[in-house]
Amino acid sequence: MNEASIKEALGKVTDPLLGHDIVSYRVLRNVEVQGDDVLVRLDIPTHAYPLAQRKELQARITKALEAVGAKRVTVIADVNTAHLPAPSDKATLKGPKNVIAVAAGKGGVGKSTVAVNLALALAKHGAKVGLLDADVFGPSIPTMLGTPETPATASKDSKIIPALHQGLKVISVGFFVDKDEAVVWRGPMVHRLLQQFLGDVEWGELDYLVCDLPPGTGDVQLSLSQLIPIAGAVMVTTPQEVSIVDVVKGIAMFEKVEIPILGIIENMSYYKCPACGHTDEIFSHGGGKRLAQEVGTEFFGEIPIDTRIRFGGDAGVPIVASSPDSEHTARFMDIATKTAMKIASSVLSKPKRSPRLAVIK
Ligand SMILES: Nc1ncnc2c1ncn2[C@@H]1O[C@H](COP(=O)(O)OP(=O)(O)O)[C@@H](O)[C@H]1O
Ligand SMILES: [Mg+2]
Repeated sequence: MNEASIKEALGKVTDPLLGHDIVSYRVLRNVEVQGDDVLVRLDIPTHAYPLAQRKELQARITKALEAVGAKRVTVIADVNTAHLPAPSDKATLKGPKNVIAVAAGKGGVGKSTVAVNLALALAKHGAKVGLLDADVFGPSIPTMLGTPETPATASKDSKIIPALHQGLKVISVGFFVDKDEAVVWRGPMVHRLLQQFLGDVEWGELDYLVCDLPPGTGDVQLSLSQLIPIAGAVMVTTPQEVSIVDVVKGIAMFEKVEIPILGIIENMSYYKCPACGHTDEIFSHGGGKRLAQEVGTEFFGEIPIDTRIRFGGDAGVPIVASSPDSEHTARFMDIATKTAMKIASSVLSKPKRSPRLAVIK
């Protein structure tokens, strides 16, 4: 066993989820060799990286090193959320490492439902998560999350402290404007409001900031893309043609402002009758998957229509919080993993330094 053989062995280990070698994808942080013992330190790129694959990765590393003569291999895996360095011209946002936009072509397809449950699922995976209700025209996050543990407040130096909801840091225009008050936000006002929500809010260190966007392609989408770097957008659609057509327009707009599409979720995919077990495809089925193929992006999965999901949204206890062991929560956890891995893989595919290998004699 020597430096060259260790390097070669580790260079051939592929990450089971990223599908690339751990050296050029910087999952390998460093290696220490002491006699026949090897200590490997990993940077797992997201909290949402599932345990089964972590174990598989450790097994692959151990096997590769044993094949070149290591007697005892120790793998220490720490999560270090992958993110791009913030460009200096978009320095408004301090704290959040990755911004995820949740968008759709139309209203009522379940954007806010997905945003809230995706944020909770990422937090359940162990990440630090914020939720920005950027739907200034129809903020629904305050209703969906219910009464916060601590409400949003302003600090002395005119900073805004986000509300705390079930472990999430949350900001919504709904906290500051009366629920029944109709607000007509014009373009420049929207821009200033978002600037404040991004720059003046004390988000603290966050792995992900999930943004719930208004439907369609308008001022909010444009302002956000100008104000901060966005890791990517998750598009929500219902299966029927009219919803899909609008999502296509949304995707085209995001491409124009250089926001990558992370993947597509089909919400209200089907209805399974809890009484008889019959499945009905109310809005047709499979449109989201077809769309993902057509536009060349990933399909993140289907969420059925279920009374419990609707009820959770109305009652202020989203399904991921109210039924942590349900099948629906499992789907949101899976969608969270796919979203986080997509971001990680796009960040890590960009070339950077190689890991340190120390041989201690
Ligand atoms: N999968 C689902 N099953 C049942 N009801 C849902 C589902 N997704 C969303 N809803 C309900 O549909 C309505 C619209 O969803 P919402 O998330 O507010 O959509 P959007 O933000 O796109 O306007 C809400 O009452 C919500 O509770
Ligand atoms: Mg909404």
